[in-house]
Amino acid sequence: MGKPASNIIPSHIAVIMDGNGRWAKSKGLPRSKGHEAGVKSLQEFIKYAGKLGIKYITIYAFSSENWLRPESEVKTLMNLLRKYLKSELKTAQKNEVRYRFIGDLFRLDADIRDLIRDIETLTKDKQGLTLNIALSYGGKDEIVTAARALATEVKEGRLTPDAINEETFASKLLTYPAPYPDLLIRTSGEQRISNFLLWQLAYTEMVFVDTLWPDFSAKDLDFAINEFQNRKRRFGKIED
Ligand code: IPE
Ligand code: IPE
Ligand code: MG
Repeated sequence: MGKPASNIIPSHIAVIMDGNGRWAKSKGLPRSKGHEAGVKSLQEFIKYAGKLGIKYITIYAFSSENWLRPESEVKTLMNLLRKYLKSELKTAQKNEVRYRFIGDLFRLDADIRDLIRDIETLTKDKQGLTLNIALSYGGKDEIVTAARALATEVKEGRLTPDAINEETFASKLLTYPAPYPDLLIRTSGEQRISNFLLWQLAYTEMVFVDTLWPDFSAKDLDFAINEFQNRKRRFGKIED
């Protein structure tokens, strides 16, 4: 790794954790083992990101399209989610992570929604890393929901159409008030967004790595941050 052009640590990192199934397959294991290994990898990732001083992490855990996977796979993922939430709830008091969940959470089972509510409440005043977990999340759906919220305010006379601008729109997005991601990392070699944070990624630097998510390590995060530090972010302007 070369010496980076800047030493700015991204304040918000978005992650598409992909490749659990292929990881398992490459080892002759069932997909469920890949997802289990993916959870461990996530827990290590969060610890390391916290040490580096990252303020916001948004992870893609389950997309609105993932509901279309075979019932057995969805069930496996939901059971694993349950287990993960219970274990985080036990340990959350000991660390400084603030958990937030974004997505169409009403599609989740009631007991999972209860766990989510408990963990959000328990950690709401934590001052360390904010961890947004996207579950049953779709970027297009998020934008449509924001548009509907604004339309309702207009209909009820609380807002005029002229007052709708980028800021008012962004304030209705699920990641609000977090800043937009500086860096997006997607693992497993796929180079697409898959309906993640469509609005928020407008000027995000993207790093795609071949590593499968269960193998993602501190070294891979260092690599992605180094890549980020070597990018010139212009935001449409000309460098001075
Ligand atoms: C990512 O791994 C986890 C989820 C989408 C829930 P995949 O399950 O997509 O793994 P691959 O892409 O099939 O290897
Ligand atoms: C994106 O991965 C969703 C998550 C990581 C949760 P997918 O594996 O579902 O994406 P596609 O189907 O390859 O685009
Ligand atoms: Mg995948």
